[in-house]
Amino acid sequence: MAFPETRLRRLRQNSIIRDMVSETQVRVEQLIMPYFVCPGNKVNNPIGSMPGVSQLSIDFLVEEVKTLVQLGIKSILLFGIPESKDEHGLVACNSSAIVPKAIEAIKKEIKDIVIVADVCNCEYTTHGHCGTIVNGDVHNDLTLKTLMLQSTILVEAGADIIAPSDMMDGHVKAIRQALDEKNYYNTIIMSYSAKYASGFYGPFRDAAQSAPQFGDRKTYQMNPANSDEAIREIAEDIAEGADIVMVKPALSYLDIIRRTKDTFNIPIAAYNVSGEYAMVKAAAQNGWIDEIRITKEILTSIKRAGADIIITYHAKEIAKHLS
Ligand code: PBG
Repeated sequence: MAFPETRLRRLRQNSIIRDMVSETQVRVEQLIMPYFVCPGNKVNNPIGSMPGVSQLSIDFLVEEVKTLVQLGIKSILLFGIPESKDEHGLVACNSSAIVPKAIEAIKKEIKDIVIVADVCNCEYTTHGHCGTIVNGDVHNDLTLKTLMLQSTILVEAGADIIAPSDMMDGHVKAIRQALDEKNYYNTIIMSYSAKYASGFYGPFRDAAQSAPQFGDRKTYQMNPANSDEAIREIAEDIAEGADIVMVKPALSYLDIIRRTKDTFNIPIAAYNVSGEYAMVKAAAQNGWIDEIRITKEILTSIKRAGADIIITYHAKEIAKHLS
């Protein structure tokens, strides 16, 4: 059958029909809002390159999360800005570190919330790399040890989901073992499985004060040119026990999300990262684009590509426009 019997415009003639045949829906239940938590009291430090995003002290963060939950967003991802840093990121490996303290404070006041804790060393090391440095490069197996410690501390504080973003080999297996040893069988691991060495993390590194002080992250994060390799990374994390796999960034990697969806049967998260957010905000502030319309279109495209969960700085603002 073809034109004129077939007319595809019939199904576009009004909004009720368009909604009826709509294939993709962005749901607030599947959005995760990231936050940066910093020391102090009543601190709100706006991030210049991420309009609308701030570093918040724990007291302000708790209030912020209360309003977020009222908008229907039930999950947050936490990053910490520590008081001090060290060579190995050990400052994050004790219960009085900034993120465990924030988790405890949030859980004390808010019942219906799922807290995802990012696990990585770059915010906590003096050199800004994601692990322990030996001979000028991140040492894989030594780094696994701090990741195991950091994860255990975060779960003890009340984290529901552990999200390792370090890109070390064997990280999911190591963290799973560390958690199971303490009987945390039910803690979910959402692994940043296919994380690219991307220029789109620039604004995040301002926010988290985590830019590497020498070199770059190309010996551990993936080459943007590769897709087969992403499938190997994801297969490995699934074999090691990941419950959810992540592709990051999202927009330049929609093909990777789709390949993951077609290849594996596991929930997929996509991280709509800081640089992607900053571009939308900058163009909107100049009056060049319609921010809400474009944000919906971006989130829809990530879902259409095959993501279930979307981590996005737009979550809070867009929640009002989704229901
Ligand atoms: C930590 C980490 C990064 C992001 C999330 N976790 C930065 C990096 O790898 O340098 C980036 C998130 C964003 O850009 O929004 N390793």
